[in-house]
Amino acid sequence: MPDLAELFRTEPGTLGGRYMRTLWHPIFIASDLKPGWAKPVQILGEKFTLYRGEGGAPHLTAFRCAHRGLQLSVGWIEGDSIRCRFHGWKYDGSGQCVEVPTEDESTAKTVRLRSYPVREYLGLIFAFIGDGDAPALPRYPALNRAASCGSRPTRAPAISSSTWKTIRCTSPSRTASRSYTSIVRKFR
Ligand code: FES
Repeated sequence: MPDLAELFRTEPGTLGGRYMRTLWHPIFIASDLKPGWAKPVQILGEKFTLYRGEGGAPHLTAFRCAHRGLQLSVGWIEGDSIRCRFHGWKYDGSGQCVEVPTEDESTAKTVRLRSYPVREYLGLIFAFIGDGDAPALPRYPALNRAASCGSRPTRAPAISSSTWKTIRCTSPSRTASRSYTSIVRKFR
C-alpha cells in the first residue's frame, strides 16, 4: 500500500502533483492584476510569471528568463509581451522570444519559454499547468450571476450554502481523497 502522505505532495513529479496538474486552478483575483503589471505566483510548489498585457489579456509563463535566469516578473510589459529587466530579452504571450537586443531576429526565434493556458472566469484567473491539451474549464452556473454583478470572490459566501456544498463535494481534494486507489494506479 503506497504512503497516503504521497497524495498531498503537489510539487512536479509527485503523485499528488501529477494528479493536480490534470485540473484547472484559480490562481489570482482578476481585478488585482492590472493591465501592464506582472506578478510572481506559486502554484503547486512551482513558480511562474503572471502578467496582463496592456490590451488586457492575462498570460502565464515560466518564472525565469531563459537567458541568465532573472525573475521575469521584475521586468516590464510592452503591449502583450514582457521584457526582462536584466538584458532586455522580450517574450510574447506564448513564451516565444521576439527580441534579443544586439542580436538579429534569428536568435530570438530559437528561444521559447514555457507558457500555460489561462482563462478569466467568476472574477478569477484560472490556469492549467499540466502537460498536453487543457480540458474544458468547469463552469458553475450558480455562481455566474454573482460574478456578473461584479462581486469579488471574497464576498461569495452570500451565495446559498447548498451551492457551496455542491462545489465542495466536487472539489479536487475531495475527489482525490475518495479516489485514492484509482489515482495511484493512474499517476504512479
Ligand atoms: S537575464 Fe533576462 S535578458 Fe538576460
